[in-house]
Order: sequence, then C-alpha cells, then structure tokens
Amino acid sequence: MKPPVYVTRRLPKPALQSLLEVCEVEIWDRDVPPPYEVITEKLGDKEALLCLLTDRIDAALMEAAPRLKVISQCAVGYDNIDVGAATARGIPVGNTPGVLTDATADFAFTLLMAAARRIGEAIDYVQEGRWQTWGLTLLLGESVYGATLGIVGMGRIGQALARRARGFDMKVLYYDAVRQAEAEAELGVEYRTLEDLLRESDFVSLHVSLTEETTGLMDARTFALMKPTAILVNTSRGPVVEPEALYQALKHGQIAYAALDVTDPEPLPADHKLLTLPNLIVAPHIASATVRSRNLMASRAVENLIAGLRGGRLPYCVNPEVYD
Ligand code: DGY
Repeated sequence: MKPPVYVTRRLPKPALQSLLEVCEVEIWDRDVPPPYEVITEKLGDKEALLCLLTDRIDAALMEAAPRLKVISQCAVGYDNIDVGAATARGIPVGNTPGVLTDATADFAFTLLMAAARRIGEAIDYVQEGRWQTWGLTLLLGESVYGATLGIVGMGRIGQALARRARGFDMKVLYYDAVRQAEAEAELGVEYRTLEDLLRESDFVSLHVSLTEETTGLMDARTFALMKPTAILVNTSRGPVVEPEALYQALKHGQIAYAALDVTDPEPLPADHKLLTLPNLIVAPHIASATVRSRNLMASRAVENLIAGLRGGRLPYCVNPEVYD
C-alpha cells in the first residue's frame, strides 16, 4: 500500500508524477489555499504534507495528524510553519533552497530598475493617451549605474543580487546579523550597520527571513534614516516592512519610491491605501515565478517528502536537530 499524503495545491506535472509513483496523493485542486480546517481534517490519516507558504501549519494542526512523518514546504521561506512544534513531535520539515535564488535576485533587480526608471507610470502615461511629445523633464527617474545599493540580509539571494549590481558598477553595502567575510572578499561588498546602510544607500533591497527580529525592521525610525531620493525594494516577506510607516514615508517624501513583491497583508486588497500612492509598485509575490524555478522547487519538495516518508534524512531540512 502506498502511503497517503496531502498536497495543498496543484503541482507541476513532473513533480506530481514522481509523487504519484510512490504515494497515494490527495490534492486541494483549487487556485486559492485550502482553509485551515480542511488541512486539519485531511491530515487525520495522512503520513506526509506538501504545503505552500500560504498554509498555516501550527501545533494544533500537527496534533490532529497522529501519523504525520514529514512536512515538506514548497518554498525557501517557512515562517508559516511552527518548526519548534514539528521538532518537538520528531517531524522533519523540508524547504527548497538554492533553486529560486537566481530567479528571485533577477526579480529584485527588475523591481529596482522598474522603480528607478518609473516604468509603471511610463506605461500608464502611454496607455492613457497622455504622450504628446518628447520632453526634457518627462518622467525623470534615478540613475542605477554607479549608485549605492544597500542589501539587508547577505544570504544566497542577497549575494546573487550583489553579483547583478556589480554589472551596473554599483557600490554594494550590506547588513547582516552575521558578518560575511567570504562575500566581502568575493564580491567586494562592504559591511555597514543597518543604520549606516540606510543613511548611505540610494537603493535598499531586503533579503531577510521573517523572524521576531525582522518583523517591522522597516518602521518609522528606520525610514527616517533613508535618503529622500532612496528607493526601497522588498522581495523577502511583507511584515518586514511596517505598512503604515511605508505609507507615511512615501506620502511625505521621506523616501522617493518603493517596489514590493511581498506585502502585509498579503494579498494586498485593491482598495488598500498603499495602492493610492503614485510612487509605489506592487507585484503579487512572483519573484521566484519562472517555469524552471517553480519546477525545481516542486521537485525538491517532493524529494524531501519521499525521503521523510522512507524515514531517511531530508536532503533540505530546516530542523536537522530533529535527528539528534
Ligand atoms: C519563498 O520560496 O520563500 C518565496 O517567497 C516564494 O518562492
């Protein structure tokens, strides 16, 4: 008999195929996430869960899943999962690092460029029939080439962004809780305290995981340190930026522009006041959304899940202490 597993969203075909070969698969076959109660009920008899960052996976849910052997998240971030509760129950939790690094860094740079050169406004300008002539001062943006980029969080994605920035001759500063000597030597990035980085940077790009320490990292105090011409890019997690503080900073010219792939709340309702601002662009959390990345993420999540079902070590495990 194949082990029963629950999957909270449709998977790309190759990954699904590998899963079907080994498991009895039940899938939530809709585009919106399954309600918490549905996941809880479905897990009653399942041995494994393959979930997304939109699913809340907490201790109560694990309590209702007595046969659960592994939780496999199809994402690199896993702030939606109570990892401590999983570890306490001896359940390994997997994620999908590495395979979305370049796609996400590409997208962070895309947002940076789009904000610097006001692409959203320019497209609207043409589509709304306002384009009458070439204008010397029409839609002036900020120069990217040679500017200073501050990267907050110098992990894989932060480093990949630094590589892209080098091609634009940018000076790259970084802040991280841990000083990254190798990245400094390899990429020529310079360490700063968060405060100094915010003061000196023309562009600030956020690449931290969501933790208690990083929640609200960008708030009224930190926005006040930034240049009035600065541009903020966030492809990490929405709650790293305090939404009211961002609104005030953009509205009152404390910073010039922001480009977000992640928001708080997420999704951002169409009538949210942030969306009334002309100096903000928002994408719907698609930084890793390339065909290649998403296929690899799903395959990696399936690999983790199968390893966990077989009682082996997950190839990409976020709580290796579970094996101690
Ligand atoms: C992740 O993996 O954590 C991203 O936010 C989605 O790819």
